[in-house]
Amino acid sequence: MAELTDVTQQAIDYSQRIPNNVDLSTDRTLQRALERWQPAFLNWWKDTGPADSAALQVYLRTAVSVDRDGWANFEYVRMPEYRWGIFLTPRDESRKVNFGDHCGQPAWQEVPGEYRSTLRRIIVTQGDTEPASVEQQKLLGATCPSLYDLRNLFQVNVEEGRHLWAMVYLLHRYFGRDGREEAEALLARRSGDPNNPRILTAFNEKTSNWLAFYMFTFFTDRDGKFQLAALSESGFDPLARTTKFMLTEEAHHMFVGESGVARVLQRTCEVMHERKLTDTSQVRAQGVIDLETLQRFVNFHYSVTLDLFGSDISSNGASYYTGGLKGRYEETKIGDDHLLVGGSYTVQEIADGEIVSRQESALTALNARLRDDYTGEVQAGLNRWNRIPEKFGIPFRLTLPHVGFHRKIGSFADQFVSPEGRLLSKEEWERQSARWLPSEDDHVFVGSLMGRVIEPGKFANWIAPPARGINNLPIEFEYVRFD
Ligand SMILES: [Fe+2]
Ligand SMILES: [Fe+2]
Repeated sequence: MAELTDVTQQAIDYSQRIPNNVDLSTDRTLQRALERWQPAFLNWWKDTGPADSAALQVYLRTAVSVDRDGWANFEYVRMPEYRWGIFLTPRDESRKVNFGDHCGQPAWQEVPGEYRSTLRRIIVTQGDTEPASVEQQKLLGATCPSLYDLRNLFQVNVEEGRHLWAMVYLLHRYFGRDGREEAEALLARRSGDPNNPRILTAFNEKTSNWLAFYMFTFFTDRDGKFQLAALSESGFDPLARTTKFMLTEEAHHMFVGESGVARVLQRTCEVMHERKLTDTSQVRAQGVIDLETLQRFVNFHYSVTLDLFGSDISSNGASYYTGGLKGRYEETKIGDDHLLVGGSYTVQEIADGEIVSRQESALTALNARLRDDYTGEVQAGLNRWNRIPEKFGIPFRLTLPHVGFHRKIGSFADQFVSPEGRLLSKEEWERQSARWLPSEDDHVFVGSLMGRVIEPGKFANWIAPPARGINNLPIEFEYVRFD
């Protein structure tokens, strides 16, 4: 039985073609524009959404309210019938711009003219990542390790689709014709398409197996969280309210990643412990993923995701802040003047053939700061993962590589830095980097383990079952129905 949660005053109107809590029916022009975009979105989903999934009945959650408690309803849904909608957290009439030059003024309900193009760019860049990840994950369903995991993949996918709606609403509602054109372009770009790629590099990489999927949702969806958190501080109130609600959904995506990697680690450690194995090839021969390969995947996904924070030193970052457009992580919980004029922040860079730390203006170092906040949270996740080998008495620990390792953007772009933070020559890098990043062989090996498991309650050999099911249901619940 699908259980309907209590829907109070923040209820979402599902009687309309586009479910929403923004009184869409009172703005006919906007409603019509979005209703024209809707079939294009559905076509995009059909083309690039999860392959061969249209007929499946998936036990999904749908937002039914923006209340903090009980905002979601769980039921079987065919994904093309998922009710993608527009949900903002409730408006706080007394909300102010909380940082930058306009600090203390009432939060903006319309786009300030001087920030129009900047805000549009911020929204488009965020919006572009949402459909991109769906495209990257398109083929994973064919090799799911269980019905539970298949359902989680689809949940992430439909919610990334909804995040696209969230950004497209802002474009249509606040940016006129330019916004409508950008909304169309969001459906035209394709992850990995050399002629019309997604905006950010990490979103053009392949997510070719489930280990990559868990790593992506742990590392890259968490970048999403930090970007959304910084935007949820925005002085442009509709952006703040939209991103706040997106964060509610994002938490589950990161859970899928963290618990996914933990279950892989659990299974590998179980096998190593039971059969007293230490050697990589022996571990692989048991059909589980060796710890060294897990470390190389960590190195890859972490370093690629760090690039999403942009240049360490950034005048754009500074002007987003002084303009009141994008704040720091948990801006309003920080006890300073929220202006940052004259403040400083420690950054790392290469000077005279050495990696050195120096003080940079707090304003221009905001990207580095957000990235460091991100790293703190990622490290806490690794610490939790590391309790698993510890529990089995296996002396292996996952570690994060140095911030300069394998970077394409920022102060370490195209430098050669080892995971321990040693500056290398190009030759040294080429000799050693195969030990640090997933090789062709690793991909072939991980790929060879992937095979579809769709019997309720069964799991692929390389991954442990989760601790509990979705929405308090048993693990062997039929999370996806093929009838
Ligand atoms: Fe998202
Ligand atoms: Fe996400």
